[in-house]
Amino acid sequence: MASKDTENGPNADDLLQQLRTIRSSLDQCTSLEDDARRAISSEARALSQDLETPGQILARTLWRPWEILCLKVALDMGLLRILAASQKPRSATDLASLCGVEELFMERLLRCMAAFGTLHETATEEGVIYEANKISRLYATEAGISHMNYVYAMLHRGWYQVPQKLRDNDYRSLTTSTHTVYADIEKKPGSNFWELLTPEQIQTCNTFFPFWNPDHRSWLDIYPAEERFVRDATKDRDAALFVDVGGNTGNQAAAFRRRFPDAPGKVIVQDLEPVLKNAESGIDAIPHDFFTPQPVRGARVYYLKAVMHDWSNDSNVKILSHLRDAMKPGYSKILINEWVIPDHGASRLMAGQDFNLMAQLGGEERSESRHREYIEAAGLKVVGVWDPKDGSTEAVIECEIA
Ligand SMILES: C[S@@+](CC[C@H](N)C(=O)[O-])C[C@H]1O[C@@H](n2cnc3c(N)ncnc32)[C@H](O)[C@@H]1O
Repeated sequence: MASKDTENGPNADDLLQQLRTIRSSLDQCTSLEDDARRAISSEARALSQDLETPGQILARTLWRPWEILCLKVALDMGLLRILAASQKPRSATDLASLCGVEELFMERLLRCMAAFGTLHETATEEGVIYEANKISRLYATEAGISHMNYVYAMLHRGWYQVPQKLRDNDYRSLTTSTHTVYADIEKKPGSNFWELLTPEQIQTCNTFFPFWNPDHRSWLDIYPAEERFVRDATKDRDAALFVDVGGNTGNQAAAFRRRFPDAPGKVIVQDLEPVLKNAESGIDAIPHDFFTPQPVRGARVYYLKAVMHDWSNDSNVKILSHLRDAMKPGYSKILINEWVIPDHGASRLMAGQDFNLMAQLGGEERSESRHREYIEAAGLKVVGVWDPKDGSTEAVIECEIA
């Protein structure tokens, strides 16, 4: 490679060599702490951005949708599964025949995926060969597939309408669950996201939620449940120990039961009736609309994961007020398991999901002070916040009657 010596600094060859050395030392380093990994990755991204020309910035930002669209096409036609299972790199001709598609189309798809870095290409004397890398391999796993299917089917479709929707709303936050981009694309203004789901979409959601965000830690690993409420709960086996409100099929309730198999008391999941058709085994499933009075009275814990972020403050006050009315003073607790957005340095996932929820559901990812607004308006007080602040794991906000 041609390089110019400069009087004031290292030349391009030296810089490149230094970067290659850093990269290969990272390849060998399997034990990076999460914080260190995040810091190094953020520095590397900043470096890459610093080097970009205007044309490269436009290509990276505006042409980005093709990264996702090509991955989705590759997933749908079975290419990702074939690449992930393959023991050796393969040519476009080979892959076209294995997928049963046109060779020219396969070449164009593989070229686009390689350009976006979602698979690896190598030039050989016999031609170009392709193999899965960590991105294409992830989208061939259950976690990757369920994320793609959920986000693609439910969220991406409305993306391009977001700027107009926000302009029409005079650049105020969208906070009405029934007048969202999602309701617009479904042509059903007046209905909220959850009311609009077809049985197939409910199935897509149910498959996705247990896999949500593979990097995050379970709330049971960041919050001392034993000490905070399990140990001194009543020993009455018929009493409600743990109610997972809006718990989908009960993946968190089931995880709680697995963690405390002998804790006396019922472990219950509540959600809308069609969702509970596939409820997890080993827990009680009770259909319940959380905008109506709570039928399970005096539970030790009412737990809500990723529920508050779907709704406006006003709706959250209604949901929590029904729980407050059912709580036994001095005994019952509410656990809100949600992200607490930091004042600065929010991760892409958190900040992007905030906009996503606003556009699709009129929801919001909140800072601690925004969480406190609806909690206190519902007559509750925060008694503790357990937040690992890792940019990915939801905090546990423990509340009692004020
Ligand atoms: C984002 S999901 C979170 C599910 C679950 N807590 C989890 O983290 O896996 C929100 C859940 O709220 C449920 N939901 C929506 N509206 C509801 C209502 N009015 N009453 C009860 N559940 C509702 C949905 O069916 C969905 O399962």
